[in-house]
Amino acid sequence: MAMNIVVVANFDSMSAEAAKIVYGQIMRKPNSVLGLATGSTPLGVYKLLVEYHNRGMDFSRVTTFNLDEYVGLGPDHPQSYRRYMHEHLFSKVNINPERTFIPNGLAEDLEAECRRYDELIRQAGGIDLQILGIGTNGHIGFNEPGTEFGSTTHVVDLAESTIRDNARFFESIDQVPTRAISMGIKSIMQAKEIILMASGGSKADAIYAAVHGPVTTAVPASVLQLHPSVTLVVDQAAASKL
Ligand code: GLP
Repeated sequence: MAMNIVVVANFDSMSAEAAKIVYGQIMRKPNSVLGLATGSTPLGVYKLLVEYHNRGMDFSRVTTFNLDEYVGLGPDHPQSYRRYMHEHLFSKVNINPERTFIPNGLAEDLEAECRRYDELIRQAGGIDLQILGIGTNGHIGFNEPGTEFGSTTHVVDLAESTIRDNARFFESIDQVPTRAISMGIKSIMQAKEIILMASGGSKADAIYAAVHGPVTTAVPASVLQLHPSVTLVVDQAAASKL
């Protein structure tokens, strides 16, 4: 298996390892196209990238594409991924806002929005480095179990377990959107390089299935076994079943 596996002690060292890879990517190619994830997992990476920026790292030529966005949440909604990215990264580095792309969860024609997003990625020359977290059910982006490997950006009905997992960010579970726009499995697999991060024991089963399980749509992250350049950066708790 081609996967490069880095096991580190904890969340902070996972974040440091992943941030180092992103740093190297932008040093090598200042106009890199990054694929970005949200959730708790990449928060430490964004914090470190802000620190790097404060010490001189230049984001002015970087382009970013986020994996996903909730349907129905606009940029000002506290739980929208656009707002998350603004708060944790975009407002704190010198990235050109016009080069930061996130699906529009308020688009009237969601199908057209999906096509537009794929076209934007294509026009940018594809994603150089994609950062991924993993759901406890093995999802990547919002590609829930059962998503076809050939999928491009699409509208997703969120799994029950995902709604439950993400309820912690909302006032109550019925405020969690039930749909999202997500880059598809194929869109993710077209990235030249991928980092999959995971921290904590709640991810141990998903990480085991992704790395050692059969390649199956039942575990979306297992498709990464077929990608030529994946680095798995996991802390000991997430790696405990490997
Ligand atoms: C979310 C996101 C994913 C993320 C995953 C894990 O629902 N759509 O992109 O990787 O679930 O989230 P967390 O990092 O908070 O555990």
